[in-house]
Amino acid sequence: RDCLLIGAPVQSGASQPGCLMGPDALRTAGLAEALADLGHRVTDLGNAAPVDMSPPAHRNDAIHDLGETAGWCASLQDRARAAMADGALPVFLGGDHSLSLGTVPGVAAHAASDGRPQFVLWLDAHPDFHTLDSTRSGNLHGTPVAYFTGQPGFQPWLPAPAATVPAAHVAMLGIRSVDAAEQTGLREAGVTVHDMRSIDELGIIRPLTAFLDRVRAADGALHVSLDVDFLDPGIAPAVGTTVPGGATFREAHLVMELLHDSGRVTSLDVVELNPFLDERGRTAALMVDLVASLMGKRVMDRMTRSY
Ligand code: ARG
Ligand code: MN
Ligand code: MN
Ligand code: MN
Repeated sequence: RDCLLIGAPVQSGASQPGCLMGPDALRTAGLAEALADLGHRVTDLGNAAPVDMSPPAHRNDAIHDLGETAGWCASLQDRARAAMADGALPVFLGGDHSLSLGTVPGVAAHAASDGRPQFVLWLDAHPDFHTLDSTRSGNLHGTPVAYFTGQPGFQPWLPAPAATVPAAHVAMLGIRSVDAAEQTGLREAGVTVHDMRSIDELGIIRPLTAFLDRVRAADGALHVSLDVDFLDPGIAPAVGTTVPGGATFREAHLVMELLHDSGRVTSLDVVELNPFLDERGRTAALMVDLVASLMGKRVMDRMTRSY
């Protein structure tokens, strides 16, 4: 595959600084080399930058850095759309999760121009389903899924999404921290949420393969958005929003391997890595390893799944 690495050093959507360094930590941990070793053609396009925007102030006083996040949203929508039009698989190196305000509508706009339905797999402790009115923290990394599924109340503060993704085409895995307003919104919108309890009860394979079967049946494009806090903080400490009880090393690699085997993944976000909080680069190294699994790294060649 042709892989494009696009740095998105966004940190205006989070409360603690540090995600600014995420793209360079992923580079330092050897992301490009790992993908090249798998036989992919890798081009690192360097870092994107936000465009200038000055939206009106919002009535929700908790919201911070709205203009900067809106500027990233606009710029990344263009970058994502252009990368897809090149026929490449873009890997967006975050940056906090507000970068998905840009990447998802951008890739979805390309899919729409190809006449393909867009699907999104959200790997996260959090559903990030707040609206500008419901967020209490004011951290816009908690809002992208509401935005790109077309929930009301985002305009004129954020640019209109180039395309939206139907809530029914979004599946979430690893969820274990949901605010009350998100709970209601998710249910009303009809997003498929596999929380940690369902993983404990069913394992991680069944919910994932059920979703992948739907993507395949629809001949859809699949965007994967991987938040560091999907993982258990014991193996991935470099994130500002740790929640106990996350995916294990083995569960996470299995998800990546099944995604690779599906052959459906068309774009990827790697988000919320805060290198300032890391321990000798171990979280950055783990994220690189997971992306490598998603892109075809495996222990043994096998013809089919082993179950
Ligand atoms: N729901 C919380 C909030 O809105 C946490 C959001 C965490 N999101 C993230 N992308 N890390 O503040
Ligand atoms: Mn997130
Ligand atoms: Mn295309
Ligand atoms: Mn999260």
